[in-house]
Amino acid sequence: MVRFVTPLVLASLSVTAFAAQSCSSSSQCDEEYPCCSQYGECGTGAYCLGGCDPLASFSLDSCAPMPVCESKTYTWDNLDNAITQDKYLGNASAADWTYSGKVLTEDGNLIMTMPAKSVGTLFANNHYIWYGKVSGKIKSSRGKGVVTAFILLSDVKDEIDYEWVGADLTAVQTNYYWQGVLDWHNSGNISVDGEDTFNDWHTYEIDWTPDKVEWVVDGTVQRTLNKADTYNETSKQYQFPQTPSRLQMSLWPAGQASNAQGTIDWAGGEIDWNSEDIQNVGYDYATVGEVSVVCYDPPSDATTSGDKAYIYTSSAAMESDISITDNSTILASLGATGLNMDLGADTSSSSSTNSSSIPTTKGGSGGMTSNNTDSATSTSDSSETTTSSSFTQGTTTNSGAAGQNERVLRGSLFGVLVALVVLVTL
Ligand SMILES: *[C@@H]1O[C@H](CO)[C@@H](O)[C@H](O)[C@H]1NC(C)=O
Ligand SMILES: *[C@@H]1O[C@H](CO)[C@@H](O)[C@H](O)[C@H]1NC(C)=O
Ligand SMILES: *[C@@H]1O[C@H](CO)[C@@H](O)[C@H](O)[C@H]1NC(C)=O
Ligand SMILES: *[C@@H]1O[C@H](CO)[C@@H](O)[C@H](O)[C@H]1NC(C)=O
Ligand SMILES: *[C@@H]1O[C@H](CO)[C@@H](O)[C@H](O)[C@H]1NC(C)=O
Ligand SMILES: *[C@@H]1O[C@H](CO)[C@@H](O)[C@H](O)[C@H]1NC(C)=O
Repeated sequence: MVRFVTPLVLASLSVTAFAAQSCSSSSQCDEEYPCCSQYGECGTGAYCLGGCDPLASFSLDSCAPMPVCESKTYTWDNLDNAITQDKYLGNASAADWTYSGKVLTEDGNLIMTMPAKSVGTLFANNHYIWYGKVSGKIKSSRGKGVVTAFILLSDVKDEIDYEWVGADLTAVQTNYYWQGVLDWHNSGNISVDGEDTFNDWHTYEIDWTPDKVEWVVDGTVQRTLNKADTYNETSKQYQFPQTPSRLQMSLWPAGQASNAQGTIDWAGGEIDWNSEDIQNVGYDYATVGEVSVVCYDPPSDATTSGDKAYIYTSSAAMESDISITDNSTILASLGATGLNMDLGADTSSSSSTNSSSIPTTKGGSGGMTSNNTDSATSTSDSSETTTSSSFTQGTTTNSGAAGQNERVLRGSLFGVLVALVVLVTL
């Protein structure tokens, strides 16, 4: 399931007095700040866009409608098609990706970085995919505690993963979730040929149809999940990923000392902030080459009244509870929500840019939005020494090694925040 990293210390931020209310499917947001972000906090604006959980929000239509799938191939000569969360208002045609953290382009590749004591990088596609094939040419990061991820994640936490644990460069871990429900049996390892996953390019694909998921490495199907095999006799439901999902690529410190011990163990141990790569280039990193998305047809019985946006029509949040509509996906400002998408249209959106509208922190660093984790380059904001951002960090697996406590902890933390203090001395 998805990990959430956020500061314990939001209150100490000097820039705003806004204290985000936390939310889950059993404790929805109120009408004033109706959107439950991917990070499990209520707000407006960016909280209502990619990752906004309709089941934990004030109502099903609090989150903005989801931009439909677009088949596209991405290369990385520049970051012209990527913007930070504070700039994105839901027009996926204007920006294919939203990101946090420090990202670079080099030789046509995207470099996701994680400087020392940062929370890494999240690079998320703004177009939802409702079945399709995504593929990425990837060199993972390396080192204990460092995890690279390439996943499909829906707003109700259906999820299909590839994860590279930096302590084991001979394999990639795969996993899936249905509505965030944890299950021991969902994970599987694929061993990867060649020298190692850090030095070698490999192409990792997720081929997702209404009937099955295939994990394909370098053109060979290595794992198949059949929908038929996910049927739960008790609930009479297929516990199969089936809702519109976004492609998310990330690099994150699973071995951060403040994480749960089971997570640290899974990640191969505590992260070394003085790793070889940090010494040599200033950060741990993962390298992404060409990424492509091929959209498949939606289910043949899907309710369709347009071709611009997916919406949830019922809180059961199954395949049959999605409809394809002509609803707009674009908020007029960061104060707007799915309930009032035109709010703030006549004012400058920047005036409403605050922590109730962007689920990340102001000032300081932490590596996410502020883009200044490199202490050598920081010359201002010296008063803000404690910082971080709300940030989604790939996923964790239930490896057989994780203890029962960890499993319980993971369960109880679902939809809530895993607090992580990131102390950065500027
Ligand atoms: C979609 O648009 C219709 C008609 O404009 C509106 O009634 C409905 O609330 C919208 N749905 C969402 C989820 O925004
Ligand atoms: C969305 O962005 C595209 C490309 O920049 C632009 O042509 C279009 O007008 C925008 N749509 C809206 C509603 O702003
Ligand atoms: C995958 O590999 C890791 C070690 O690299 C191991 O701990 C885990 O149990 C394996 N998972 C499965 C499902 O075999
Ligand atoms: C099947 O559904 C029941 C009822 O919702 C639930 O209690 C049980 O945990 C589910 N089984 C699995 C394997 O998820
Ligand atoms: C933040 O933005 C919201 C929505 O625009 C607004 O209602 C609120 O007053 C703002 N808060 C601060 C502290 O500026
Ligand atoms: C990071 O900050 C520098 C200087 O403040 C700026 O020039 C650059 O565009 C920023 N990079 C990103 C990816 O935001």
